Amino acid sequence: MSEKGIASISNLSLSPLDDSFDLSEFDCGRKDITEFLKDDALNYQKEKLANTYIFHPKDKKTPVAFFSILNDALNVKNIPNNEKNKFNRRLPNNKRINHYPAIKVGRLGVILDIQKSGFAYDLMDFIKGFSIMNLNSACRLLILDAINEPKQINYYNKNDFAFLMESDKESKTRLMYFDLINLN
Ligand SMILES: CC(C)(COP(=O)(O)OP(=O)(O)OC[C@H]1O[C@@H](n2cnc3c(N)ncnc32)[C@H](O)[C@@H]1OP(=O)(O)O)[C@@H](O)C(=O)NCCC(=O)NCCS
Repeated sequence: MSEKGIASISNLSLSPLDDSFDLSEFDCGRKDITEFLKDDALNYQKEKLANTYIFHPKDKKTPVAFFSILNDALNVKNIPNNEKNKFNRRLPNNKRINHYPAIKVGRLGVILDIQKSGFAYDLMDFIKGFSIMNLNSACRLLILDAINEPKQINYYNKNDFAFLMESDKESKTRLMYFDLINLN
């Protein structure tokens, strides 16, 4: 079956990355992210710095898509007051804090063959659900450093991620968040 034929998330298995995967053919179109999966992801996992999960055909250990996640916090202490106030408004006054518990999506990628198929929307829906279901400790936000290029920014906007601040507008990456309370 071609990769296009298996481009539905429900036809795939999800497994944590381990050394039984054949990563050699994986290509998501961005060298840095492809190389992260091939060269670094397993070490990040061994060092407990980020866990990587792979969607793959049920009968084949070859990645169709992957995401890496880690615990983090969103620090709003040092952002301008107007932006901090805007963010804080989502909580009652007496619950406002400087560091909001978060899960960070460190990296994600989908193979070129199934980009533009809608699969990436299902992938992000899955990551959001996974983030609220897999927790022993509280987590309010999903956060990430989005590559500041139209493809990535539009993708995260379309998946309801928002910018925290304007001051990173010209930076290589922009901090974006999704409020997991929206899934309750
Ligand atoms: C980012 C990624 C997961 C998105 O998956 P995709 O299948 O390409 O995305 P889709 O085609 O479903 O598009 C989703 C939205 O992204 C935006 N988008 C996609 N391609 C785009 C492009 N070339 N230019 C501008 N916006 C684009 C659009 O807003 C699109 O919305 P639409 O469905 O209304 O057109 C995928 O491109 C990928 O793996 N890229 C390489 C790795 C990467 O960049 N990871 C993210 C790091 S921050």
